[in-house]
Amino acid sequence: MAHSIVIFGASGDLTSRKLIPALYELHRKKRLPEQTRIVGFSRTKFSDGAWREKLSESTAHFVGKSFDSAIWEEFAPSIHYHPGDIENPESFQSLNRYLGELEGESGATRVYYLSTAPRFYEPAIAQLGAAGMAEETQRERRVVIEKPFGTDLQTARQLNHATHEVFAEHQVYRIDHYLGKETVQNVLVFRFANGIFEPIWNRNYVDHVQITAAEEVTIGHRAGYYDGVGILRDMFQNHLLQLLTLTAMEVPARFEAGAVRDEKVKVLRAIKPLGREDVATDTLRGQYRKYRDEPGVAAESATATFATVKLCVHNWRWQGVPFYLRSGKAMSCRTTQIVIQFRQAPYMMFEGGPRAASQANRLVIQVQPAEGIQLHFHTKVPDVGMKLRMTDLSFQFKEKFASEMPEAYQRLLLDVMQGDASLFARSDEVELAWGIIDPIAAAWKASGLPSLALYEAGGWGPPNSTEWMHAQDREWFDSCPVLKP
Ligand code: BG6
Repeated sequence: MAHSIVIFGASGDLTSRKLIPALYELHRKKRLPEQTRIVGFSRTKFSDGAWREKLSESTAHFVGKSFDSAIWEEFAPSIHYHPGDIENPESFQSLNRYLGELEGESGATRVYYLSTAPRFYEPAIAQLGAAGMAEETQRERRVVIEKPFGTDLQTARQLNHATHEVFAEHQVYRIDHYLGKETVQNVLVFRFANGIFEPIWNRNYVDHVQITAAEEVTIGHRAGYYDGVGILRDMFQNHLLQLLTLTAMEVPARFEAGAVRDEKVKVLRAIKPLGREDVATDTLRGQYRKYRDEPGVAAESATATFATVKLCVHNWRWQGVPFYLRSGKAMSCRTTQIVIQFRQAPYMMFEGGPRAASQANRLVIQVQPAEGIQLHFHTKVPDVGMKLRMTDLSFQFKEKFASEMPEAYQRLLLDVMQGDASLFARSDEVELAWGIIDPIAAAWKASGLPSLALYEAGGWGPPNSTEWMHAQDREWFDSCPVLKP
C-alpha cells in the first residue's frame, strides 16, 4: 500500500538527525512499505538531487556502520523535495497537487510530519485543513506532532482544539520518543507477560519508586529553546510522566491503542496535582553552576536544569507509595532507570543482616544505555559464617539478542504508517500531564520555593537532593548504568 510522508520543517535538525536515518534503516531492514515516498517541505530551496545529496551525508554520519551506499542509492529515489512556506496557502495547494501527481490515481496514505518550530504547528494544521488535505475521502490522512505539545495546559488545550478543528483524534499522533524505546515498551511485557511480578507490584511490597533520567550533557547551544523552558517542561511533562504511567498502570483489557491509553490516563487522573505548599516540600530544583555562562542564557536565568518531584498515585494499588521523579543535565553520566525499591523483609533473623531500608530488594529497569534489568537481593557470602551481601541477577538485551537496539523513531514512524497509535500520547493524556506540571512551574515562579540550588557538573545534582531523601528515610539509587554499556 502506497504511503507519502511529508516532512514539514524538512531542512531542520530532526529530519537529518533522526527521521531520515530511521526511514533509511527501515528500508535497509525491508520494513518500509513498498511505494513509500518521502517529501520534504520547507522554505529553503533544494532540488530533489541536492536534498538527497545533503541527506546522504547526514545519514551516513548518523547511522554509522550500518550505512551502505548501495542501499542508499536504492532508497534515495523515494526522497523528494517541494519548497514552500507554511504561512502561504498557495504553497499548500501546490504541495497537494505535487503529491497528487506523485501518488497517481490510486492515491496513498499520507503522513504529515510536523517537525517545524512549535509556533508553526497551528498554522500548518490550519493550512492542511484549508487545502482539503486532511479529508479521508479516499485514503487515510495522519498528522504527527513533535514535542513540545504546548508549553502549559492552556496552550496544549489550544493546540488540541486547533488540531481537532481539522483532524479527528484517530488521525493525530503526538510524539514522545521515549515510548519508541524498546526498554520502555518492555516495561509492559515484563509486567504483563510474566505472572510472578504483578502480585508484588503494589503498596504491600513496594516502598517507593525512583525514576531517574540523568544526562551528562549540558544544554550546549540549545539555550534558544531551553532557557525559560527548563527541565520540568522538557523532561517531566512528557518522558518522565510516561515512564511513571507505564510503571503504575493496571493491565489493559487488550493490547490496543485505546485500551492502553485509557489505563495510562487513569494513572494521571489518580495523581493529585501539588498545591503550593506541597511544591515547597515535595520538589527540588537546581541549576548547574556554569549554566548562566552558556551562549544565549540570560544572565539572571532561574531556569532549572535539575529537578526532583515526589508524586503520589492515589489508588488502591499505590496509595502511600511515593514516585520520585528526577532528571538533570550535567550529571555524572547518562542513565535512565526505573528503580522499584521493595520493602524490607518483615523480620531479620540474621545478625548483622540488612536493616536499612535502602538495602531491601530492588529491581532496576535500565532504560538506557546498556538496556536491561537487574534484580538486587541478599545472598550468603561463602565460607565466612552467616555473612550476607547484596548481589544481583542481571539481564541485558545485547547478551540475549543479536539484533541492535533500534532508534525509537524507527518504531514510531512504522506505527504511524500502520495506523497504530498505542505509542503516541492522546489529547487527554497530554492535558492531564500538563495539569500535573503546571502547578509546580507556577509555584516555583510565584513563591520562589524551593529555592534554586546550584550544583557542580558531574555529580547527582544539588547536595540538598541527597539530604531531602535522607530526611524521608530513603536513599537515591545514585548509580551509573548498573549494566555495562
Ligand atoms: C528531549 C529533550 O526530548 O529528550 C532533550 O528535549 C533531552 O533535552 C532528550 O536531551 C533526551 O532523550 P534521550 O533519548 O537521549 O534520552
